[in-house]
Amino acid sequence: MASKLHPVQERIAKAHGSQCGFCTPGIVMSMYALLRNNPQPSMHDVQEAFQGNLCRCTGYRPILEGYRSFTKDGGCCGGKAQSNGCCMTNEHTQEHDSSTLPVQKLYDQSEFMPLDPTQEIIFPPELMSLSKQPQRELRFAGERVLWIQPCSLEELLELKATYPNAKLVVGNTEVGIEMKFKNLFYPVILAPAYIPELNIIQNTQDGIQVGASVTLTVLGDVLRAAVKKLPAHQTEVFKAVLEQLRWFAGQQIRNVAAVGGNIMTASPISDLNPVFMAASCKLTVMSKGEKRVIEMDGKFFPGYRKTILKPEEILLSIEIPYTRKGQYFSAFKQSPRKEDDIAIVTCGMNVFFKEQSNIVQSIRISYGGMAPVTVLATATCNRLLNRQWNEELLEEACTSLAEEMNLSPSAPGGMVTYRRTLTISLFYKFFLNVQHKLSLDLLKEGVTVEDVRPEYTSATELFQLDSPSSVQLYQAVPPGYSDDVVGQPIMHLSALKQATGEAIYCDDIPCYENELHLALVTSTKAHALIKSIDTSDAMAVPGVVAFISAKDIPGSNMTGPVVYDETVFADDKVTCVGHIVGAIVADTQAHAQRAAKAVKISYEELQPVIVTIQDAIANKSFFQPVRSIERGDVAQGFKDSDHILHGEMHIGGQEQFYLETNCTLAVPRGEDGEMELFVSTQSASKTQALVAKALGVSANRVVCRVKRMGGGFGGKESRSTILSTVVAVAAHTVKRPVRCMLDRDEDMLVTGGRHPFFGHYKVGYMNNGRVMALEVTLYSNAGNSLDLSLSILERALFHMDNSYNIPNIRGTGYVCKTNLPSNSAFRGFGGPQGMMIAESWMSDVALSCGLPAEEVHTNSLLLPGEEDEHVQGGGFHSLHFSFINKFNELQHRWTKRGLSIIPTKFGISFTAVFLNQAGALVLVYSDGSVLLTHGGTEMGQGLHTKMVQVASKTLGIPCSKIHITETSTNTVPNTSPTAASASSDLNGMAIYNACQTLLQRLQPYKDKNPKGCWEDWVKAAYFDRVHLSANGFYKTPDLGYDFETNSGRPFNYFSYGVAVSEVEIDCLTGSHKNLHTSIVMDVGKSLNPALDIGQVEGGFMQGLGLFTLEELRYSPDGYLYTRGPGMYKIPAFGDIPIELKVSLLRDAPNEKAIFSSKAVGEPPLFLAASVFYAIKDAITAARAESNLTGPFRLDSPATPERIRNACEDKFTKLVCSNFHC
Ligand SMILES: Cc1cc2nc3c(=O)[nH]c(=O)nc-3n(C[C@H](O)[C@H](O)[C@H](O)COP(=O)(O)OP(=O)(O)OC[C@H]3O[C@@H](n4cnc5c(N)ncnc54)[C@H](O)[C@@H]3O)c2cc1C
Ligand code: FES
Repeated sequence: MASKLHPVQERIAKAHGSQCGFCTPGIVMSMYALLRNNPQPSMHDVQEAFQGNLCRCTGYRPILEGYRSFTKDGGCCGGKAQSNGCCMTNEHTQEHDSSTLPVQKLYDQSEFMPLDPTQEIIFPPELMSLSKQPQRELRFAGERVLWIQPCSLEELLELKATYPNAKLVVGNTEVGIEMKFKNLFYPVILAPAYIPELNIIQNTQDGIQVGASVTLTVLGDVLRAAVKKLPAHQTEVFKAVLEQLRWFAGQQIRNVAAVGGNIMTASPISDLNPVFMAASCKLTVMSKGEKRVIEMDGKFFPGYRKTILKPEEILLSIEIPYTRKGQYFSAFKQSPRKEDDIAIVTCGMNVFFKEQSNIVQSIRISYGGMAPVTVLATATCNRLLNRQWNEELLEEACTSLAEEMNLSPSAPGGMVTYRRTLTISLFYKFFLNVQHKLSLDLLKEGVTVEDVRPEYTSATELFQLDSPSSVQLYQAVPPGYSDDVVGQPIMHLSALKQATGEAIYCDDIPCYENELHLALVTSTKAHALIKSIDTSDAMAVPGVVAFISAKDIPGSNMTGPVVYDETVFADDKVTCVGHIVGAIVADTQAHAQRAAKAVKISYEELQPVIVTIQDAIANKSFFQPVRSIERGDVAQGFKDSDHILHGEMHIGGQEQFYLETNCTLAVPRGEDGEMELFVSTQSASKTQALVAKALGVSANRVVCRVKRMGGGFGGKESRSTILSTVVAVAAHTVKRPVRCMLDRDEDMLVTGGRHPFFGHYKVGYMNNGRVMALEVTLYSNAGNSLDLSLSILERALFHMDNSYNIPNIRGTGYVCKTNLPSNSAFRGFGGPQGMMIAESWMSDVALSCGLPAEEVHTNSLLLPGEEDEHVQGGGFHSLHFSFINKFNELQHRWTKRGLSIIPTKFGISFTAVFLNQAGALVLVYSDGSVLLTHGGTEMGQGLHTKMVQVASKTLGIPCSKIHITETSTNTVPNTSPTAASASSDLNGMAIYNACQTLLQRLQPYKDKNPKGCWEDWVKAAYFDRVHLSANGFYKTPDLGYDFETNSGRPFNYFSYGVAVSEVEIDCLTGSHKNLHTSIVMDVGKSLNPALDIGQVEGGFMQGLGLFTLEELRYSPDGYLYTRGPGMYKIPAFGDIPIELKVSLLRDAPNEKAIFSSKAVGEPPLFLAASVFYAIKDAITAARAESNLTGPFRLDSPATPERIRNACEDKFTKLVCSNFHC
């Protein structure tokens, strides 16, 4: 560990803001940079600083809470959590009465080191002085690229004349992506970032002139200053640019990306170009000996990613104009995620009125996202000239936009109906904005025109990110047990190392001297025969050592975690895009990747190509067996019901998006076929077994070692073995160590994720909503191999009734075989999909009966004694149902709120019975220190921390004497994957068992020396030749379910929870805000409340991503479009509920697991369904405005597109009547 921590590192660790730790150094650096620039930031500054950071584990809340202590808000929740106590101290007053124990803090803020900005290291003076030295041209000639940084404008223009096709690069945030991911190659690059003329900022008569290399951060600062200084009517365009910049990428990108780069990229979804075009900005362009000024109008972008600049021309600057009295300007951006996301539709809208009137003199509307280029709605604008700004104009504009902003049904980017609706909805927002401002301005001049109706005003409000507040409640360890480390919220044992960046992940292992790098060669076809593979170009790339393929496998090419139905390398046939065909081994990763792209494979395409569940149903493409679970008399149940309804739901898949992608280092040991593997995997033993199988050696020759993972979430349970096997085969072939850490796009392409599900159901129910009979058919999209899909489907069926007692029930499940990469385990393992469909029929029943959802839920909820245990709620019924109804009915036509309470019941055990076993090895050294090894792996969930706590309590020694170095197959054999939430239960019991053995052996020495200490007893035993290491073992008793007889006990016990969420939707755009979530989670007697709350919050946020945000998009021929953070959006800091309250259920010991605890990893994920159904509740209110009542289908995730399309109104009708939706 570093000798001195920085407060930024210390606080994230102690506030439990680091789980797997892979994101932690990035977050530390963002916070550090913020504090260096602003030692007393506001919470808003902190949130803004993290716009470009992602964390997949923590749910962000602890990071924000920890860093709130640096802000001038000083750690106060701003009174938001007043009713439950202060958010920072967690000293709650109303939550406990005299019979319960006081609630403790999760961490003690008073322990934090103070931040002293005067002690920070200074910026190196020699670098400062360098910046003052005269500029010189810099040239770097690489293997393939010449990079030149000219030092004057003349030099730049000269170079551009010499190399007209050279790329100018400033921030490289666009060109970098093109070269890395789109395989574009630019042999000459010119870097004009420091040329003074391109960095100019000057006021002109008409506006502000900004050099093309000015960064977006600087542009924002300049415009903010102007807005402060100038009269409001002059800065309408500046405010619109600032609004766009608020949601433009993250701080890190804005700090380097230039305004010229955004214009010249000519992206049809640029955020700034529609604003610049609507504002008629002037652009100055130059070439050697020529300078011209052009207006950004409808001709500036002649085609996709093209401008009218000639090859030898560069953009020098842009002039952003002032506005005048009577001129109004707005800009809007609609994207799937609010923060750091690319737009679906963006626009700039500019209107100027005749003096002292509401008659339009000129109007200019520009859209991005509606064509291959940024476009002007010229026809519509022409129709609005000389018209009064009133309802008739609105109607005319909407009808005209519906015609003019047309898209073909197959337009790139999809979402055609939504995008078209947005053009109208956003204009409507502009209309209301202008109507309001105009009425106020004209009133000052004595002219009265109609203002916006009060119930419409919320549609004009800008989206704000409110500062979050939170509460965490857990039961303190009773007095007198204060030495007992179990139950204490101790920090993740690696958290400090993770915060300093010292924690070692797989790819941090130092390079071996003769090590090589591997890159995968993958199929570009979803279903095809391989006709030939041409590696000649690839082998010519410098540094390439070998191409590895199926013929290099000494053992078996067949692999798979349950059945061997897939290949390590495709031999003659590929069955998905991303199917591994071969691998290149080279001296560097860059050479290996370049060569891999140069391998040419010719295919003979095969039919059918099955991508979706619907394709699979049509082609009857299913893996066997078809599973069925039945209880009661379903036919009779339907007969006895008052009503029957039918419904359907589709739930999209999800990428695990562990921040550390898959990584393996394989080291051949050079004798007896031994191979040592360092792997980021949840399944050390499965990796060992499958590598041994491919290498044709017995398992005892292969060692798999796992120090820690940067996240797993199920994605490294079985799919990691494919890469490990490929790397091991390569290492075996070239007889040298080989390493591969996949890039994000490669990882997403090759590995698959959570199964999409489709369910249809028939429900019989009574007038009061009590469900009497249910028939559900579930289909899961497994991809091209069986992998773990059957168990995942089984779990979905086991959870098809969620927490409800349905007397007559039948569920049938099909595993669809498709041409996608094999889908696999992901936190929840089918359970969330099964329960989500249950909540869909619950929602349909409530809407059909016209009864409140919570009443219908309660009528079917399991009662105490009906299962092993029972659900206990948190007294949520007092929440604001009536307030929400009032909000929706009276005040807000275009903004609606919704509320939902959702229970969960999650079965704990592997459904494959044999996996419910664990081993441990406890070594006691003669100095009293203990080395602990068990079968579980650490992926951020804090398993090792909990296991040290268990050993500490059992042995009666402090945690500091116990150490875990890694998980390895040569210490504990035949380990089960770290999965199914069961690892603390299983490994904890195995450790307990081993420790008990050791305690028995030490007992005589304790008896002899009762006043002695642990070290004394250990030493005495050692000298007495006592065996001081012990194995432990545990298997869960009495498990097993028989699908033939529909009987047995699949789970050891259930974990329960309940959540209530409140949301607000913008009916015009489909955006939503998560206002509030309260969760009560049953974790038994928590082993470590800080870690358990971390799991609850992290799981909840992953569920939030699953049900509201994350969308995998495939082409009809099976190509995954969403292959990185640019296209695939996981929740960001701004997505957490504004108020988040998490309580661990009190007084609920669980006798079936270690120290009365319960499993926690997966169960809380489903509680995010409360957000989905709160959104559905809000949509119901919006539909009621259009007289639409009763059930409606809402598929998951509830994206802005789905929300907007479901809020049917006059605008959606306009698009549909024009478009035949
Ligand atoms: C994570 C991420 C998030 C992003 N988010 C957004 C977003 O929210 N909204 C959005 O609109 N864009 C977004 N982008 C795209 C990109 O960041 C912007 O377009 C940015 O403004 C490009 O600036 P740059 O300086 O990095 O361009 P570079 O990559 O350096 O160059 C881009 C193009 O501009 C040309 N160019 C640059 N300067 C000149 C000049 N003076 N004369 C002629 N040609 C020139 C280059 O040759 C190149 O073709 C995002 C990109 C990333 C990686
Ligand atoms: S702790 Fe943030 S990604 Fe794991």
